Amino acid sequence: MKKSWFNKLLLCGFISSICMTPALAERSIKLANAIAKDSHYGAAVTALEESLQQALPGKFKVEHFANSALGGEREVIEGIQLGTIDAAVLSTSTALNFVPEVGVFDIPFLFRDLAHARSVLDGEIGQDMLKKFPQRNIIALAWGDQGFRHLTNNKVVVKTPDDVKGLKIRTTENPVHIAAFKHLGILATPMAWPEVQPALQQGTIDGQENPIAVIVSMKLNQVQKHLALTGHVYSPALIIFSPAFYNSLSQDEQAALQAASLDAAKAMRKYVDDIEQSGITSLKEAGMIVTEDVDKQAFAKIVKAIYPEYYQRYSQEIIDKIIAQ
Ligand code: PAF
Repeated sequence: MKKSWFNKLLLCGFISSICMTPALAERSIKLANAIAKDSHYGAAVTALEESLQQALPGKFKVEHFANSALGGEREVIEGIQLGTIDAAVLSTSTALNFVPEVGVFDIPFLFRDLAHARSVLDGEIGQDMLKKFPQRNIIALAWGDQGFRHLTNNKVVVKTPDDVKGLKIRTTENPVHIAAFKHLGILATPMAWPEVQPALQQGTIDGQENPIAVIVSMKLNQVQKHLALTGHVYSPALIIFSPAFYNSLSQDEQAALQAASLDAAKAMRKYVDDIEQSGITSLKEAGMIVTEDVDKQAFAKIVKAIYPEYYQRYSQEIIDKIIAQ
């Protein structure tokens, strides 16, 4: 009799302790990106969230601030360093101002194709590069990409380097790109992304350059007449976190975040692969004049003349190693 009372008491205690334990708090990840949710960056964010949900159900919730809602990529990286933003998906164009070594991947006509670029980033060179970020108070967990960048403008059909001379083209705040554009005779106009669409609308610049994934997701066909498939430079993207956020996680949570970042990068690349084909068709259907027969070799020949500048900035050894891979 006594024993059964004791068991009942134990059971009551157990049940009430379960009921009174507060539910595990969901941790919010404040994540920023510059473009629309319906994009390769958006695909990455969805994959990140799904992967975390699967690994640690109910533990994390991603608060996704798209369309530069938290500022341009430069401000976002500063927020990551300060810990006011937890995470971001962004391009290397701005990141190289914080981790200069990363700019080596932004050299025009460096990579042959997407497979070449991805094998470098997933290999020793790319993985070593990720390890440089913590020295600048940024945690970089995975390489995604945007595809190759192409030129859009409102003035001319671009086939050869002569066609771009004198065009006022927005560039990212990226000295590696700017050097090449200036050498081609372009009036390179560095500008943060949130200012680009108004500038295109108002005609203060003639054009800009970005991959198909960006041109489609940001509906640049509404403000740009011509697209030339120049493919002049590969555009790597990063999934980064603030050390304040990352270091506050347990080892298991960090491992889940690392795996989720790789899943995000994979989803981003898949989105890019798909849209590189379908995007050109949809831009043509939307009325954009697309020039496919660009003399890429002529552009490459001119840009290769300034490779010695890049050898000085980085090293010929690493550039040759990337090309040879
Ligand atoms: O052109 C840029 O600044 C970048 O490619 C963009 C569109 C912000 C995406 O990272």
